[in-house]
Amino acid sequence: MSVDHQHTEGNSHHHHHGSTPHRTLPPGVTGLHTLPADHHDGPWDSMIVPPGTKERLLSTAVLVLRQGRLLTNLSGAPHGLIVLAGPPGTGKTTLAQGLAQAAALAVSKRGATTLVEVDPHAFPSDMLGESQRAVSKLFHDTLPEIAARRPHTVVLIDEVEALAVRRSSASFETNPVDVHRATDAVLAGLDALRAKCPHVVLIVTTNFLQAVDEAVLSRADLVLTTELPNAETIEGIVRGSLEELAGQWQEVRPLAKDKALHAEMASLLVGLDGRRVRKTMLSALASRTEVAMEPGLVTADDLRRAAQFASDTGALF
Ligand SMILES: Nc1ncnc2c1ncn2[C@@H]1O[C@H](COP(=O)(O)OP(=O)(O)OP(=O)(O)O)[C@@H](O)[C@H]1O
Ligand SMILES: [Mg+2]
Repeated sequence: MSVDHQHTEGNSHHHHHGSTPHRTLPPGVTGLHTLPADHHDGPWDSMIVPPGTKERLLSTAVLVLRQGRLLTNLSGAPHGLIVLAGPPGTGKTTLAQGLAQAAALAVSKRGATTLVEVDPHAFPSDMLGESQRAVSKLFHDTLPEIAARRPHTVVLIDEVEALAVRRSSASFETNPVDVHRATDAVLAGLDALRAKCPHVVLIVTTNFLQAVDEAVLSRADLVLTTELPNAETIEGIVRGSLEELAGQWQEVRPLAKDKALHAEMASLLVGLDGRRVRKTMLSALASRTEVAMEPGLVTADDLRRAAQFASDTGALF
């Protein structure tokens, strides 16, 4: 998690600072943050995506944040919904959080942005329509109340398939009644939120596009699919990770410039997701206690061995 919880307002587990009143977060909301925050830039910059991807994401968000109210007069007004879909470890959450920060930065001259994190697993699942009521409350009351506090609001729902299960899917048939109600509540909620707060941006992620209700996807202004990184992207992640290390330990600088090494590692790591690639870089530091004590001592051979090991064990997943 790259989100800095110092910016969490009213988290009941935190002691309050100064005169900040003690508040608990509304049901389903797991984080409230004020953006832009300087330390949020890194993840967005470190993501390697096809050319134009970041600009398209950013423009979609900025259009809704800035022009959402005016665009309601169009026949096909935006829903402010951005869907990021793709396999585990391909950067969906990182892009979603990075986008929130990048968009907040872009509109910061016009005021601050609230980032609202919603946990789709926090809603009760039972047969009494409780989850339906909770979801309705989120979209009809909670989010509009939060959105009223600042000029811009971005809502993040990670793993949205937990909330908006595709009604035509097999898993739906095993638990039809309540799931149906919850998905209906999400749809009604999206429409209600658009009517009340046309300038709110909703970024949702899913591992599995096929599990998300079609009517929800139909409301998306942008559906972006993330892919497993190719060799070139892996080279970039390896280089970027080494540059980050070099920022901390100067001695790593030559390794960060060794293009042949990056290519060699990428050829071993191809097939792994971006998260596994980053873990491989860490595992090189953990391969010898000496290096763990003094990461500047890491060698090209440590890195090669870590990549070889990741490549051998990667087949296990
Ligand atoms: N294309 C990429 N470029 C740079 N870093 C990447 C890329 N893809 C993944 N990563 C890195 O992998 C890590 C995991 O990414 P993230 O948590 O955003 O993935 P995710 O798609 O949300 O995974 P999950 O579905 O398991 O939640 C992050 O550290 C991220 O920086
Ligand atoms: Mg994720």
